Amino acid sequence: MHVRATARAHANIALAKYWGKADPEQNLPAVPSVSVTLDALSTQTEVQFDDALEADELTLDAVRVQGRGLKRAARLLDEVRAMAGSKSFARITSHNSFPTGSGLASSASGFAALALASMAAAGLPIDRAMASDMARRASASAARSIFGGFVRLEAGAPGQRTLAASPIAPAGHWDIRVVVAVTSLGPKRVGSTEGMRHTASTSPYYGPWIEMSRGLADRVQKAILDRNLVALGEAAEHSALSMHACAMASQPPLVYLEPATLACVEAVRRLREQGVQAWVTIDAGPHVKVLTSPEQAARVAEHLASVPGVLRTIESRVGQDASVEVTEA
Ligand code: PMV
Repeated sequence: MHVRATARAHANIALAKYWGKADPEQNLPAVPSVSVTLDALSTQTEVQFDDALEADELTLDAVRVQGRGLKRAARLLDEVRAMAGSKSFARITSHNSFPTGSGLASSASGFAALALASMAAAGLPIDRAMASDMARRASASAARSIFGGFVRLEAGAPGQRTLAASPIAPAGHWDIRVVVAVTSLGPKRVGSTEGMRHTASTSPYYGPWIEMSRGLADRVQKAILDRNLVALGEAAEHSALSMHACAMASQPPLVYLEPATLACVEAVRRLREQGVQAWVTIDAGPHVKVLTSPEQAARVAEHLASVPGVLRTIESRVGQDASVEVTEA
């Protein structure tokens, strides 16, 4: 019997950032990270194994994917096949809830949905820790997208066999909002794996970054458990800008921030001066995500939309767990 599995996973944004690998081969992070799952950005992925296929096939937002994108997906499927003792290839169909080409395409939601759907389609039990570990091998941030709410991924040790994220608090614990400012897309960014490798080998601040990161993750986690938005915002902003400072001190420099990114950082600082609770966080790209309260999210979004270089804004609530459904094909 053949089954088809459909999984849905949300993107997440790290409030305590992961930057650096303890073991590049096993894709284990060198630092602990803490994230919030984003309801507004999700990926839905359908997987069906088929003995008639001669290779894995991947379609993303109705476009056939070849090359590097297909290879990364096929590598995850190889792990699932090894675990399930199967040799069949799979047909993968994936859709993002946000526009393709917006630069928001998230490997986190993508690999989390793919891990869950492929494990279910291969007949493996739905074990969230196993799915998180599987997703982590493809993209460490994807390990966190298996869970909703607020999530932590510990640092790994070189050679460690498995590492899964674990939930800190469910979505219902705290109603906070994240406003995403999509900025104009600059030249193609350096991918996170290459960026981390370059930072680790050339930045004089890599050591201090590793040293400070556990304290930052603990600060972020405590602020979440205490529902303290000021403490959370300050720690999250400090983590993001420290990560970027560390990357910028690489040789040659690794600068992800663009003029519009910095304009958003400045706009948010001004909002704070006016008494608005808002703090920025930035991943390995030019977009800015602003952490705020439900009451102030509309004002933050309106203000960010007027910043030169901001193309659009997306307001998100805290997202739920990833889910998967199995149907007979
Ligand atoms: O999981 P990756 O390889 O896409 O790396 C994610 C790196 C950051 O987004 C910058 C930080 C994070 O913790 O998500």
